Amino acid sequence: MKILFVASEAVPFCKTGGLADVAGALPRILHERGHDVRLVLPRYGDIDNNRFRLLPLMPEMKVRYGERTFAGSIMRCSYPKSQMPVYFVDEPSLFGRKGIYGNGHGDFSDNDVRFAFFNMAALWLLKGLDWQPDVVHVNDWQTGLIPALLRHHPEILEDPFYREIKTVFMIHNLSYQGNFNRHLVPSIGLPWSVFTHDGAEFYEKFSFLKSGIVYSDKLVAVSPTYSREIQTEEYGAGMDGALTQRGRDLVGILNGIDVSEWNPESDTMIAHNFTPKDLAGKQNCREELVKLGNLDKDSTHPLIGITSRLVDAKGFDLVEQAIDDLLALDAQFFILGTGDAKHEQLLKETAAKHPGRMHVHIGYDVPLSHKVIAGSDLFLMPSRYEPCGLTQMYSMKYGTIPIVRKTGGLSDTVFPATQSSIDASQGTGFLFEEYDARAMVRACKEAIALFKSHPKSWHALMKNAMRQDFSWQRSAEKFEALYRSLGDQ
Ligand code: ADP
Ligand code: GLC
Repeated sequence: MKILFVASEAVPFCKTGGLADVAGALPRILHERGHDVRLVLPRYGDIDNNRFRLLPLMPEMKVRYGERTFAGSIMRCSYPKSQMPVYFVDEPSLFGRKGIYGNGHGDFSDNDVRFAFFNMAALWLLKGLDWQPDVVHVNDWQTGLIPALLRHHPEILEDPFYREIKTVFMIHNLSYQGNFNRHLVPSIGLPWSVFTHDGAEFYEKFSFLKSGIVYSDKLVAVSPTYSREIQTEEYGAGMDGALTQRGRDLVGILNGIDVSEWNPESDTMIAHNFTPKDLAGKQNCREELVKLGNLDKDSTHPLIGITSRLVDAKGFDLVEQAIDDLLALDAQFFILGTGDAKHEQLLKETAAKHPGRMHVHIGYDVPLSHKVIAGSDLFLMPSRYEPCGLTQMYSMKYGTIPIVRKTGGLSDTVFPATQSSIDASQGTGFLFEEYDARAMVRACKEAIALFKSHPKSWHALMKNAMRQDFSWQRSAEKFEALYRSLGDQ
């Protein structure tokens, strides 16, 4: 099959969160499985042409936007250690700045123009390549305009080249919606008929996310539980009505993890490699983390790690409500994250008051994120909602036991650890259900008690977690089936 994968971020080129991990891995796995897959990204100013050997491919691709005309060009490279082509839409006035969606002061004010241009350019690129994919697989709001363009843009409708192309819209996070002023509709050349309640209109704004939901052929949420949750008012972020209407075309497919990147046996960013059979190296990783955080050298207390965007959705309001109770536990904390100033500030202040017990590193640091995941005993992820979540899967792979809230992908990937489930090789972590600070602290206490008083069971739990198969191969088959089903429509 021929698949165009369009995303606003992908490792190793540009990243703010898990979307980049998925957009760097899934298309590549499908490519390895023999499909003709190609990836398109914006060429942000931070992407290093030399490092990735980007070469010019097509000059001067003109896209009209209202009164303005943008002239983009396309650059190309092969995905590192793969033959998969990656195309970059280059338009310095839109993408040549620092930052992906914004800078330290919030989102860029021209994100509507930037991503409208990117979506249009991705479709023009196909014409330039004279390559007709069977499926265009788009991701989150930043690429959600493409299904509307394919169904309703007059120049595209006129052109038989685009007629057979189907779309899959993958929902990684419903809370980011790309809702913009209605002027976008005529500016990009779409008819007003798309700006209706049944179309892409959302509270008088034009919504990229709703455009993806309404006009794509199939929808995929990043975990089975999230695919159900988003059809409810509690998790639907206002889109539950539109999603319920598309219920028959919506499936949940669990993300995988890239085991060439996240594998304790071969990870070059950690102090020592280790395997489920020989865990000695994990102790070195722990010692390194203790040293990096100036934490007390006390291996009788578990070390609880967090690597996360510091936002409410990830449960930092709970962490802060419970901060005194957490610090009263027999545990140490290493927190790596960046995000909302209020959380950064509070966590830094708390750590300063509790040296040796809690270390907070504010920043985005990939090598350190590997060290936190490898060196911790427990990994805390109390998300309010979690479409899939990757870090709990990374943790399990490294024998670091997750403590998570039972929501979205967390409840699909972490299986409750009890003495009997551990003995039956099933339990992999600790879950709490209510979004409540006391419930979170209770789950932490349960985990700490097992760690301290039942080392044998703990060891068995680590092995269960490490043995889970989170590889992309399983999910890749499901995507293939989904793409094939589009041919029957
Ligand atoms: P989300 O995409 O909602 O942030 P995921 O768990 O799917 O959550 O993915 C988060 C990704 O971002 C993981 O690869 C994680 O390691 C990475 N990450 C998050 N915060 C940081 C940080 N401060 N430094 C380095 N990597 C981070
Ligand atoms: C989003 C979600 C996260 C998911 C990731 C990759 O950022 O918040 O839960 O793992 O996308 O799909």
